[in-house]
Amino acid sequence: MEPLKRILALPTSFSSLILLISAAAPLAAAEPTLTEDSHCGCYLTNGNQSTYFTDHRFFDFRSLSQYASAPPVIRDVEATPGAQRTSAYFNSTEWTDFWMLGSWNNSNGARNDASVLMVNSPNNVYIEASDEPNPPSETWLTLRTQRLEKFQTAAEIESASTKFKYLSLRMRARTIGAGGALTAMFTYRGADTLAEVQESDLEIRTADPRNLMHYTNQPAYTDAGEVVPEATQNATMPGGLDWTAWAVHRMDWTPGRTTWYVDDTQVAQIEFQAPTDESNIILNAWSDGGKWTGNMTLNDAAFLQVQWLEVVYNNTEPEATKAQARKRDGAGGKPCEAVCSVDQTTQLGKPVMLWNNAAVAARVNGGGRMVAWMPRGIVVFMVLLSTGVLA
Ligand SMILES: *[C@@H]1O[C@H](CO)[C@@H](O)[C@H](O)[C@H]1NC(C)=O
Ligand SMILES: *[C@@H]1O[C@H](CO)[C@@H](O)[C@H](O)[C@H]1NC(C)=O
Ligand SMILES: *[C@@H]1O[C@H](CO)[C@@H](O)[C@H](O)[C@H]1NC(C)=O
Ligand SMILES: *[C@@H]1O[C@H](CO)[C@@H](O)[C@H](O)[C@H]1NC(C)=O
Ligand SMILES: *[C@@H]1O[C@H](CO)[C@@H](O)[C@H](O)[C@H]1NC(C)=O
Ligand SMILES: *[C@@H]1O[C@H](CO)[C@@H](O)[C@H](O)[C@H]1NC(C)=O
Repeated sequence: MEPLKRILALPTSFSSLILLISAAAPLAAAEPTLTEDSHCGCYLTNGNQSTYFTDHRFFDFRSLSQYASAPPVIRDVEATPGAQRTSAYFNSTEWTDFWMLGSWNNSNGARNDASVLMVNSPNNVYIEASDEPNPPSETWLTLRTQRLEKFQTAAEIESASTKFKYLSLRMRARTIGAGGALTAMFTYRGADTLAEVQESDLEIRTADPRNLMHYTNQPAYTDAGEVVPEATQNATMPGGLDWTAWAVHRMDWTPGRTTWYVDDTQVAQIEFQAPTDESNIILNAWSDGGKWTGNMTLNDAAFLQVQWLEVVYNNTEPEATKAQARKRDGAGGKPCEAVCSVDQTTQLGKPVMLWNNAAVAARVNGGGRMVAWMPRGIVVFMVLLSTGVLA
C-alpha cells in the first residue's frame, strides 16, 4: 500500500498553481505550520478514509522516569483488584481525565470457555524504565499479565468516557513475553446479548507466529460457538516485522468501516459489522485459559508496552461535562473552520494547521495578513476575486 503521508501530498500541478497564485495575489501560501490544539477547530486525518474529527489527545510515556517502577506481581487474589496505583502519574489529571484502571474479573462467566479465573489489577499498569543501551525511549507504559497458581493476573485501561463515536487511534507499541496471552487495543460497546456487542479490535495472541495480527469487528462468533468469518481478517506485520518490535499500530473507526495500519501501511479493512454507536476505548493484556487466548504456563508473563498513544476523535458527551473541555480560541472557535492535521506534523503529538477559513474570511473582508494553508477551492475563489472575475 501507499504510505499514508503521500496521500495528502499535493499534486505537482497544484503546487505550481500556488506559485502562480502567489504571484498574482498578495497571498502567502505557507507549508502547514505547527500550532496548538486550542487553535484547531478540527482535525483531518489522512489514509484510506480521510475524516474530520473534533478532538485530539496525545499521551506521551517516553520521558516519565520520575514515575518509573516495576512493582512485583501481587500473588494474593483478594488484594489484586484493589491494589494501589503504581505511581503518582496514574493520579495526575492528565491520566484520570481520560483513563480508568480496570479491576474487574471474569467470574461472571462472560466467556463460556474460560478455564482460569482472571483478575485485572491496577498493579499491572505501570511506567517502566528501559534497561536497554540506546533505548528508543527512556520509559514506556506497560500492561502486564501473568499466570499465578490460583488465577491469571491481568491489566486493562479503559477510557472514562463511553461516548466516542468515530476515531483514529494510534499507539507506538510492542508485545513481548510468553505464549498463552493476548494483548489488544479496541473500541467497545457492551450489550445484553453477544449479537448486540459492537467492537473493533486489534489483537495479538502471544502463542501465534510473531508476525500474525488479528483484526475484527465483533462478534466473530455466535452463541452457538460458530465462527463468523467476515468479521475477522488475519494479517502479517508489514516490512518483515514481528509484533515484538516497536511499531505504530493505528485503527480508524469511520462511518461504515474500520481500517487498520502498521507503520502507515494499510493491513486490514472491514466493513462488516462496523460499529455504529458510542463506544469506549480499551487496551489490555490478559488470558483466561480459553480457546482464543490459550493457557499460560505457571509464572509465565506477557506485556503490552506503549511509548505513546494518540487519538483524534468525536465524542457525544455534552460539551460542558467533557473532561478538560477544550478551550478554542480565535479562528478555531467554530468546528472545522480551522483545520489541523496530526499526520503531516513534524513534531509527534503536536498538530499543524492545514487551513483556516476564519482567516480567509478576514482576508476577503480586507482583514489582516493571510498566512494560513488553504484548500484548493478557496485559493481559486480568492484568485478569481482578486483578479476581478467575481468582483
Ligand atoms: C482503501 O482500501 C480498500 C480495501 O483495502 C482498497 O480497495 C482501496 O483501494 C483503498 N483506497 C485507497 C484510496 O487507498
Ligand atoms: C465529527 O464532528 C464534526 C463536527 O461536528 C463533523 O463535521 C464530522 O463529520 C464528524 N466526523 C465523523 C466521522 O462523524
Ligand atoms: C493516588 O491517590 C490515592 C487517592 O487519593 C492515594 O491513596 C494514593 O496514595 C495515590 N497514589 C500515588 C502513587 O500517589
Ligand atoms: C470478582 O468480581 C465480583 C463481582 O464484582 C466480586 O464480587 C468478587 O469479589 C471478585 N473476585 C475477585 C477475586 O476479585
Ligand atoms: C487466523 O489465525 C488463527 C490463528 O491465530 C487461525 O486459527 C485462523 O484459522 C486464521 N484465519 C484465517 C482466515 O486464516
Ligand atoms: C487450560 O488448562 C485447563 C486446565 O488447567 C484446561 O481445562 C483447559 O482446557 C486448557 N485450555 C486450553 C485452551 O488448552
